[in-house]
Amino acid sequence: MSAGYPNIRLRRTRATAWSRALHREVLVTPADLIWPLFVTEGHGVEEPIGSLPGVSRWSVDLVAERAREAAAAGIPCIALFPNTQAERRSENGAEALNPDNLMCRAIKAIKDACGESLGVLTDVALDPYTSHGQDGLIDDEGYVLNDATVDVLVGQSLNQAAAGADIIAPSDMMDGRIGAIREALEEAGHINVQIMAYAAKYASAFYGPFRDAVGSRGLLKGNKKTYQMDPANADEALREVELDIAEGADSVMVKPGLPYLDIALRVKETFQVPVFAYQVSGEYAMIEAAASVGAGDRDALVLETLLAFKRAGCSGVLTYHALHAARLMGA
Ligand code: PBG
Repeated sequence: MSAGYPNIRLRRTRATAWSRALHREVLVTPADLIWPLFVTEGHGVEEPIGSLPGVSRWSVDLVAERAREAAAAGIPCIALFPNTQAERRSENGAEALNPDNLMCRAIKAIKDACGESLGVLTDVALDPYTSHGQDGLIDDEGYVLNDATVDVLVGQSLNQAAAGADIIAPSDMMDGRIGAIREALEEAGHINVQIMAYAAKYASAFYGPFRDAVGSRGLLKGNKKTYQMDPANADEALREVELDIAEGADSVMVKPGLPYLDIALRVKETFQVPVFAYQVSGEYAMIEAAASVGAGDRDALVLETLLAFKRAGCSGVLTYHALHAARLMGA
């Protein structure tokens, strides 16, 4: 007697809807999602972003409403990114330290509106505040200085924590910043403010629409290859994660998402820590572009990509499709 076909028929468990439901290995729910939101100055302002169809920048009053909708849809956390006015940007990004900057006002408005029903994750890096669009302080040659930048990032983190941020998410890729930020948060008494480290962040071509959204695309000279990772490297991502965990990160992020699914899986299998994937702006734009020319069904494409992250072991996904996806799941 052979142990194979026809006794073994893998199609048996797929034959009916109830059986497919019963054998499903992973599940994606609204609780797996983090929704990134862009903030702009003004009142009652919505500014659509051309390269991100369906995504807008919102003024503080409206971003608080969006946050309320997210919580109502079962999304546990939102991520905030400011579009700082040109006149508030500078060579050293000092606006990042202003306790009344756009980011801090948005954090407070959302915490007032949603309280403990919604977590607020804040991006730490200087690119929304610098006149040159780099994530840190630069020297005469435009090289991003590590240690001087870390000092500013620590101040930026404390500023966001004081405003009420729940998760500090450094996306800058400077060496040693997680330990420095953790130490400063502890000293300031923010012992329960988490750090989600953008541990494996790649110098990616998928960030274009995001740079439009925060207004840094036209400003950025050169690239970010001296601090963000080379897309050719995987072992190095594990070293980044190991260090960030050792320095006190509560969770780590892999970014972009689908093109780096192998990294997410290896990180999870190696370290057994909470791993999040950032399905970035260019990935969102790709799905929307495919759907708009009829190359695929938008809702199905969105849900299928989210399942990929869950299979890879991710605890959750930052995605611009979060509210849409949460509503699909609830329907
Ligand atoms: C910058 C930052 C970037 C993103 C999040 N934080 C862009 C960059 O590194 O240039 C990209 C997110 C996206 O593309 O959706 N600190």
